Amino acid sequence: MIIEAEKAIILSMWGKISTQADAIGTQALERLFASYPQTKTYFPHFDLRPGSAHLRTHGAKVAAALGDAVKSIDNIAGALSKLSEMHAYVLRVDPVNFKLLSHCLLVTVASHFPADFTADAHTAWDKFLSIVSCVLTEKYR
Ligand code: HEM
Repeated sequence: MIIEAEKAIILSMWGKISTQADAIGTQALERLFASYPQTKTYFPHFDLRPGSAHLRTHGAKVAAALGDAVKSIDNIAGALSKLSEMHAYVLRVDPVNFKLLSHCLLVTVASHFPADFTADAHTAWDKFLSIVSCVLTEKYR
């Protein structure tokens, strides 16, 4: 369970992240496809080369969804319910992939804000991203 102090860390760091959210979303995807190339199978219709227009557009969408979750940190399930249905019923993304993307998001945030990324911040982001992932995969069964 994410505690109040951890929510405060997420909200405060999001204040900084939001100024470069599109770039962070895009870089997280670049790391995902480079480090875990099996995830590319969900995007046969995308140009997945680093910096491509597809990656930048999709990175911005992923970052915007994370921003919605941050804004509704006490009701992430409500904020992401449409996306949850889409990932489960339409896209059918194997839940294992959410851990991979969460890890890439975590590393990207850490690399952009090394001074902020204390052990407590690491815990807070890990919990936040696992709640987002649980919400996006909860409709599977
Ligand atoms: C689409 C967010 C994880 C595969 C989307 C969209 C958003 C989103 C906002 C666009 C929805 C729309 O156009 O209405 C997220 C978030 C994730 C996540 C916040 C976790 C933190 C994943 C993972 C995969 C994946 C792990 C597979 C490796 C896809 C695919 C699309 C999509 C294939 C459709 C792309 C297209 O054709 O435009 N996601 N996603 N997502 N997502 Fe995710």
